[in-house]
Amino acid sequence: MPATDHLIASAQALFSKVFGRAPVLGACAPGRVNLIGEHVDYQDGLVAPLAINRYVVAAAAAINEPEARIWSSTRNAPPVVVDLEHDTPLEADNAWANYVFGVIAAYREAGHNPGGFEIAFDCDLPAGAGLSSSAALESATAIIIEGLANIELPAKERAQLCRQAEHEYAGVPCGIMDQLAVNCGLAGHALAIDCRTLDISPFPMPGDLAMVVIDTKVKHSLADGEYALRKHDCETASEILSVRTLRDSSIVKIQEMRDQLGEQLYRRAHHVVSEIARVKDFTAAMKSGNAAFAGSLMNASHLSLRDDYQVSCPELDTLVEIACNLNAMGSRMMGGGFGGSTINLVQSPHANHFADQVVNTCREQHGWIPEAFVVSAVDGASFTRTS
Ligand code: GLA
Repeated sequence: MPATDHLIASAQALFSKVFGRAPVLGACAPGRVNLIGEHVDYQDGLVAPLAINRYVVAAAAAINEPEARIWSSTRNAPPVVVDLEHDTPLEADNAWANYVFGVIAAYREAGHNPGGFEIAFDCDLPAGAGLSSSAALESATAIIIEGLANIELPAKERAQLCRQAEHEYAGVPCGIMDQLAVNCGLAGHALAIDCRTLDISPFPMPGDLAMVVIDTKVKHSLADGEYALRKHDCETASEILSVRTLRDSSIVKIQEMRDQLGEQLYRRAHHVVSEIARVKDFTAAMKSGNAAFAGSLMNASHLSLRDDYQVSCPELDTLVEIACNLNAMGSRMMGGGFGGSTINLVQSPHANHFADQVVNTCREQHGWIPEAFVVSAVDGASFTRTS
């Protein structure tokens, strides 16, 4: 089911208010959670994300000038206007619109010209919560561009153009997981993705399990720089191990090479190699109905991200600890780290109670208030009706 009618109607009304006429095209793109497989996508690893029922929604219409006029309900500002002929990334207050501008540039470079347009975005997907709001913004833009250019690219191709935008215009050297999850989501399913081949095998989410996202509401400033450093560590470790990426190594090999790697690179490689093995075991466990084992692998993933990869933070560790004490089946940090959210696997009937309990315990014992909500697996980015 696409974004709620309420959100689609809201984006259309906002478009009309900002641009003074009705929109002609609409798109919606979901956020994503990742059940397991963190910081492995840029090492050709395996991941298990899914698209969730929180969205970025766009309403748009063509114009005759070679410009894009970009407006978002999340910014209290007039539209950002970009010249389509002049492709330098935007700066300062307008930098957020690079996620849009970058997608236009990527499509143009691939030979697809949407012409000029006006676009308004609305969303119920929080930004900065580790739920891929940037990939959703890129993907909603991509769908609109395809509508304007009268083309429909395969979802994987769209995902790759969106990632190119993120690399070249937002300056984030991310992997492909987020854009694939947002574009290839399947209702009721998680996606087992091989980030080397881009092969996607959906597997059903059992009805008796629920997913609870708990947002720390913090983002530590080192997040972006540390992401690039981790990626660089993996590349250096791969060179020392003489493999293309850490996907091609093994625990035995990195143990043999521990001295040559040194302690830091050993730990980084240990996380990536062990995490890829956990994803394999996790998908097998989910398919065979062994949710308890799947959950224990999520817990192990968190420890590996905390101790070996060192991308967690005190707030994430606190939420995971509370969740484990409340008997979540599995709980772990999600996304790049240093803030954002945890993903928790719990028995469906207890999901709302669990969410309340985590928030209350955190408030009472630690003095800060996270935000918790239950999510479900939905289809990937698509056009929406316009009225
Ligand atoms: C961010 C990136 C992804 C992935 C995760 C960590 O979300 O955009 O490509 O690397 O971090 O798993």
